[in-house]
Amino acid sequence: MRLLVTGGAGFIGSNFVHYILGKYPDHEVIDLDALTYAGSLGNLEGLMDNPRHRFVQGRIEDGRLVGELMEGVDVVINFAAESHVDRSILEPQVFIETNVVGTQVLLDAALQYKVRLFYQISTDEVYGALELNSTERFTEDSPLRPNSPYAASKTSADLLARAYHRTYGLPVVISRCSNNYGPRQHPEKFIPTVILNALHDKPIPIYGDGLYVRDWIHVLDHCRAIDLIMNKRRIGEVYNIGPDNEWANIDLARKILQIMGKPEDLLQSVTDRPGHDRRYALDNDKLERELDWKPSISFDHGLAETVRWYTEGGK
Ligand SMILES: NC(=O)c1ccc[n+]([C@@H]2O[C@H](COP(=O)([O-])OP(=O)(O)OC[C@H]3O[C@@H](n4cnc5c(N)ncnc54)[C@H](O)[C@@H]3O)[C@@H](O)[C@H]2O)c1
Repeated sequence: MRLLVTGGAGFIGSNFVHYILGKYPDHEVIDLDALTYAGSLGNLEGLMDNPRHRFVQGRIEDGRLVGELMEGVDVVINFAAESHVDRSILEPQVFIETNVVGTQVLLDAALQYKVRLFYQISTDEVYGALELNSTERFTEDSPLRPNSPYAASKTSADLLARAYHRTYGLPVVISRCSNNYGPRQHPEKFIPTVILNALHDKPIPIYGDGLYVRDWIHVLDHCRAIDLIMNKRRIGEVYNIGPDNEWANIDLARKILQIMGKPEDLLQSVTDRPGHDRRYALDNDKLERELDWKPSISFDHGLAETVRWYTEGGK
């Protein structure tokens, strides 16, 4: 099987490329990535000489390049995105270019070359926010109420993918995952920031009151879910991927400090992010029921391993 993976030099994309080439000896990956500040060839260490992996530097909005790469492709998995909410607040334009226009260019080419599956990687942020003290969880049928420019651009991409399925019959599937952690995540994101600042005894910025709740999943559990959905999904469906592992930022930062044996006075409250979503939580029932998926990496183990990965220099 030949896969076109976009964004395969980023955090989740690179973990997925390592995972899929390791698991399936007959799969080939064309890995299209623009190598923005968030992408790194270091994430693909050990794969650059692999004959089943072809890395191409380029942008998903480049229709000519995307068309050239699409020939003979069975499955497209679109990870490529601008992914940092704070950056989307400062500079929304590039989020629209990559996340919306780029997805539409890929959808057009996938249609033209009659791929067997177009897999759109999406996020729980498309649903908007939940109340801090509620027990509610988003299902796949919850209304889409994105609050940040990042979330709005990802929602637009989901809706385009849905429309290409409904209008043109393109075989599409979408999965919406909660916050990922694990190796190869860019240091600007929350967990790497906490670990790296603690390592160097630097203040750790915590937005506002720190009571922002996220549902944390290990990136390899996300990759396993994508693999399962890619192979066993129903076409045209959306699947939530959530581990039922909610943590307030402040408690998670304390847990990391405890693992590292660092003092809590490193935590420093900073001015809140505008429009900051209070809580995300996903209902996983559909994925469990239809595809028998459950997360397999305990948070204690996964987090300790992640701390070790960053403190030992990313190896
Ligand atoms: N990180 C999370 O917690 C999380 C959770 C749910 C969903 N997602 C989604 O998963 C996907 C991957 O997220 P991530 O955390 O790995 O992001 P990331 O920022 O680490 O990686 C994104 C990759 O896309 C590449 N890229 C950016 N613009 C591009 C363009 N125009 N053309 C080609 N490549 C481009 C970058 O170079 C980078 O390698 C995104 O679609 C994101 O919305 C992420």
